[in-house]
Amino acid sequence: MRILIVGGGAREHALAWRLSHDPGVEVIGAPGNAGTAAIGRNVELDPTDANRVVALAKQESADLAVVGPEAPLVAGVVDALRANGIDAFGPDRNAAQLEGSKIFSKEFMARHDIPTAGFRVFDDPDAATRYIEEASRPLVVKADGLAAGKGVIVASTAAEAVAGVDRIMRERAFGDAGDRVLIEECLVGQEVSYHVVADGKRFIPLAPAQDHKRAYDGDEGPNTGGMGAYSPPPVVTPEVEQKILDRVIDPTLQGMAVEGRPFRGALFVGLMIVEGEPWVLEYNVRFGDPECQTLVTRWAGSILPIVVGSARGDLGDLRPRWEAPASLCVVLASGGYPGSYEKGKPITGLEEADALSNVTVFHAGTRLERDTVVTSGGRVLSVTAIGADIDQAAARAYEAADMIDFEGKHLRRDIGWRARTR
Ligand SMILES: Nc1ncnc2c1ncn2[C@@H]1O[C@H](COP(=O)(O)OP(=O)(O)O)[C@@H](O)[C@H]1O
Ligand SMILES: [Mg+2]
Repeated sequence: MRILIVGGGAREHALAWRLSHDPGVEVIGAPGNAGTAAIGRNVELDPTDANRVVALAKQESADLAVVGPEAPLVAGVVDALRANGIDAFGPDRNAAQLEGSKIFSKEFMARHDIPTAGFRVFDDPDAATRYIEEASRPLVVKADGLAAGKGVIVASTAAEAVAGVDRIMRERAFGDAGDRVLIEECLVGQEVSYHVVADGKRFIPLAPAQDHKRAYDGDEGPNTGGMGAYSPPPVVTPEVEQKILDRVIDPTLQGMAVEGRPFRGALFVGLMIVEGEPWVLEYNVRFGDPECQTLVTRWAGSILPIVVGSARGDLGDLRPRWEAPASLCVVLASGGYPGSYEKGKPITGLEEADALSNVTVFHAGTRLERDTVVTSGGRVLSVTAIGADIDQAAARAYEAADMIDFEGKHLRRDIGWRARTR
């Protein structure tokens, strides 16, 4: 079976790695990175260019395409693949609106009584500013459309919130994504990521995970794409998980089906747990990166039946089996990230680190230059380890992370701190 993996981050390497364990599976990274090149091969393309993705899938006689990132999903790459008879893992454009428009998702939650912070929608920056000034309490300002994780301002003062509206709506920092703005009540609690795989009717719950968005230890510094993750987070007790399934996942997937937007693919709900109660912060219509790296390493056996079942719209009664009790992923980033950084730095120690037992090194911003792997992005590697508990997984992941080096290497030392005892 030939599988096209659309995207080029550590999430895509992790999916390709897991899928390539099945006998007879061949993976093609589109565009991939040095990690997918080592287990298959890569073809350079823009993943949001639906015509190019379809042409490549046909040219390679691909049996399946797995679309990793949100931008191609929202752009309708899955629709184009299916229209050409190619099975695709991921939601179509209509279902991807759950992530493509934050306003759509909030209004959807309101229609289906799914717990989420109170909100108002504005298409006029003056009206938004007046509302903020009258509200005089902490608010969260969000651009409606995709903004690569940069379109949200958690404002502790009215001035910060107004500055957020200006940036989104007047300076148009995110282009059309800022035509409308969402202003939400601020929730205080612990964030978790919950993933399921759906086939349009049924779903399979995966395991909860927790991401670390800020660049520096102690959750300080600017937001990033994610500096590390672990699974499972202790805040998600069996009772909390049941509430997530009953109050969020079930009504979401049923609501989407009822509204004529059946959801297929990975649904990742960003939640705030407030005193044991789950509140939805946002929907993502794909696996989280770095959460995906912790989920696929905990998984026992093949993920191929679940990926194919979801893509074809029939999961049957498949269930995942969790083999490793815990997994933890540490991201190695380029110095300066999420600001500007240099590329092309040779990376050493990759093979030694990957050879440690219970460790897998997933590539993100890497490229092969002759025979050397060099840096080519902000997040460079996802060093992931499994263990009997989070402490063991963390010890192993950091042992491996310390074996790898490149000029300017930056990592957080406290990934999993909420669950670690040493
Ligand atoms: N209503 C809210 N209350 C408190 N914090 C929030 C709220 N909405 C978002 N946040 C914070 O802002 C971050 C980004 O918001 P999110 O909706 O996940 O957008 P995106 O991931 O697209 O940037 C969240 O991870 C969370 O830390
Ligand atoms: Mg988010």
